[in-house]
Amino acid sequence: MIGIIGGTGDFGRGLAKRLALSGRSVFIGSRDESKGVRIAGQVSEAIGTDRIKGGSNTTAAKCEYIYITLPSSSLQETLEKLKPQLEDKIVVECCVSLKFGKFIKVIDHEGKSTYELVREILDNSKVASALKTVSAYKLGRIETPLDETDFIMSLSDEAFEFAAENSRVLGLDVIRVRGKTHALTLERMTALAIQLNKDHPNSHFGFKLTR
Ligand SMILES: NC(=O)c1ccc[n+]([C@@H]2O[C@H](COP(=O)([O-])OP(=O)(O)OC[C@H]3O[C@@H](n4cnc5c(N)ncnc54)[C@H](OP(=O)(O)O)[C@@H]3O)[C@@H](O)[C@H]2O)c1
Repeated sequence: MIGIIGGTGDFGRGLAKRLALSGRSVFIGSRDESKGVRIAGQVSEAIGTDRIKGGSNTTAAKCEYIYITLPSSSLQETLEKLKPQLEDKIVVECCVSLKFGKFIKVIDHEGKSTYELVREILDNSKVASALKTVSAYKLGRIETPLDETDFIMSLSDEAFEFAAENSRVLGLDVIRVRGKTHALTLERMTALAIQLNKDHPNSHFGFKLTR
């Protein structure tokens, strides 16, 4: 079972839908257990599956595999609490720290990316960063294929393979990105996509690598 910590938001719900439709069992986590149960029920009903359950983030963290779809401002506090349950597990984080205004900016963490922040907090987990440039809007519209590239980072081959396999079944092309300097670049690409979507109404831009 894949637990999604912070899974009740747009991104987590879209991810849960697509993972469940690809045959995975998913657990949507929330700070509020009853909200997790309710959202899981709504998402299950919307796509006609019994593969999605929900409850607390604490229960989600007990799953074999984990995705994190929390606002970055809550990462430190939430992950410190759940850290013991996440030890030795594969954890895929999809989080970007953004500041919204006329121009959307990425906030770094004393020069570090959100990926590096999560790796620092969860230093005994196998962390990958994935899906950062894929919009929640597109994830949630299951009738539309995800025709773009997922730029995945991980120091762990096992975590990379897990994240890559899931992204491929979601329909994404996968490329592995190495070098922590590029983690911030990828997070800035998210800011760029959101900026473009804001400046070009009714557009839902993504990134696709070509050869
Ligand atoms: N939206 C996009 O298009 C997009 C694209 C790429 C990456 N991302 C990244 O994906 C992550 C999730 O995006 P989202 O739009 O789904 O975020 P969101 O709706 O703001 O938050 C997701 C969930 O996190 C929980 N949460 C909110 N504040 C919290 C706090 N202070 N402490 C603990 N939990 C809290 C809430 O669940 P409960 O109230 O149920 O606990 C909420 O439903 C973000 O880091 C975002 O940058 C988003």
